[in-house]
Amino acid sequence: MSVTRYHSQLRQSAAERRAETHPLTWRLRDDGARIGLDEYVDKDGYAAVREVLNRQSPDDVIATMKEANVRGRGGAGFSAGMKWSLTMKGPGIPRGYLVCNADEMEPGTFKDRLLLEQQPHLLIEGMILGAYANHSRYGYIFLRGEYVEAARAVQQALDEARGAGWLGDDIAGSGFDFDIALHTGAGRYICGEETALISSLEGKRANPRAKPPFPGQSGAWGKPTVVNNVETFCNAPAVMAHGAKWYQDLSGELSNDGGTKLFGVSGKVERTGLWELPIGTPGRELLERAGGLRDGKALKTWLPGGGSTGFLLPEHLDSALDFDTIGKLGSRLGTGLLTVVNEDQSVLSLVRNLEQFFARESCGWCTPCRDGLPWTVKLLQALERGEGERGDVELLDKLADDLGPGKTFCAHAPGAAMPLASALQYFRDEFERGVTHPPRTAHADPIPVGQI
Ligand SMILES: Cc1cc2nc3c(=O)[nH]c(=O)nc-3n(C[C@H](O)[C@H](O)[C@H](O)COP(=O)(O)O)c2cc1C
Ligand code: SF4
Repeated sequence: MSVTRYHSQLRQSAAERRAETHPLTWRLRDDGARIGLDEYVDKDGYAAVREVLNRQSPDDVIATMKEANVRGRGGAGFSAGMKWSLTMKGPGIPRGYLVCNADEMEPGTFKDRLLLEQQPHLLIEGMILGAYANHSRYGYIFLRGEYVEAARAVQQALDEARGAGWLGDDIAGSGFDFDIALHTGAGRYICGEETALISSLEGKRANPRAKPPFPGQSGAWGKPTVVNNVETFCNAPAVMAHGAKWYQDLSGELSNDGGTKLFGVSGKVERTGLWELPIGTPGRELLERAGGLRDGKALKTWLPGGGSTGFLLPEHLDSALDFDTIGKLGSRLGTGLLTVVNEDQSVLSLVRNLEQFFARESCGWCTPCRDGLPWTVKLLQALERGEGERGDVELLDKLADDLGPGKTFCAHAPGAAMPLASALQYFRDEFERGVTHPPRTAHADPIPVGQI
């Protein structure tokens, strides 16, 4: 029996990727095989750890990361250096945990998988630098359960790194101790939310919790805990090896955010895949690299960074793909993997599909999310069947608002609201076409309170 294996496909050949311009992918091989320890070390691997742990202070690392403006690649774009500067540390404060968020379940997102499967030593090196900066004693890689091949690659790399003294006591003769364990999750989207991730790691149900306290103050088992995305950690070795200015120059005029980004494209294009490009590269360039739309179709709309970001229009394609620019357009850069929708596709059906996913993945703690998302799905299904009732589209506006920022314990509901609200804004006629019935009587005659 033949087994189909899916890989995240990097669409730049080894000849195109250079150490000076592609800090995340230059070592990767065209055959997609995992870079083992020897090959990684031959290509300057762990050089940043040796140098930094022996010659720089944790505060130096934080200062360089801040100056380089490495913004978190998990979706929110918070400065990694800033986060690290806020971690509780110092005399009398116990050394805590450093957690890599490798839960990658955002619809349309497959970038961390590439790094985990093909270059896990880069992640380990980045985590050692992060642990040093944050005084962390133990690290966890919280990996999406379905990433079986990544689990194998990461575990092999951890064993190799420990065997060679890059993990454990007295790393590189510096006196610094740190070790990492791999933890595979059960494949729930909500486990990617950092406080839910911590609960899950502690062996509890993966419910998010309100912040503050932030994990950096009180996280796993009550200790200071730093959570960063795979790609965020993978930037640290190059930043520390070459400096903040070098990193900033990678994006140059394109963006105030530093460095490169693993961008990707999926949907109705000729060539789906991943590209490492300067952050701030316009969406149009990515679309061109993906060979444009399949079958000569026109572009209808696109999501800039996963299912929990807002739809954008063809006219937005020349905007810089960075956190601030996409935020100003009313969406989010998110994970930076574009989902391309052609003129024949129904945005209504696409949004219904996404909201079904978000409804299923809700942890159920807050009412707007637990009850609002299934209600949203029911309304969308009715509109899709052409059986919507008058007032349904306005009700969806209200639900999108109720799911919005500040009304729930975590950002799951606001994330679910983004594609819905933007679709209602840009493609309202598709929703209105589904309205064929008079309003429900329940709207017109609410049940008197005494009878409930
Ligand atoms: C529902 C939900 C799912 C998330 N899933 C992920 C994920 O799979 N990977 C990730 O890195 N961040 C995810 N995040 C963001 C994390 O909460 C957190 O902000 C991130 O791991 C911080 O890392 P960064 O600062 O390096 O981006 C998710 C957030 C929410 C609300
Ligand atoms: S917003 Fe949704 S997923 Fe987040 S805590 Fe509330 S119910 Fe749970």
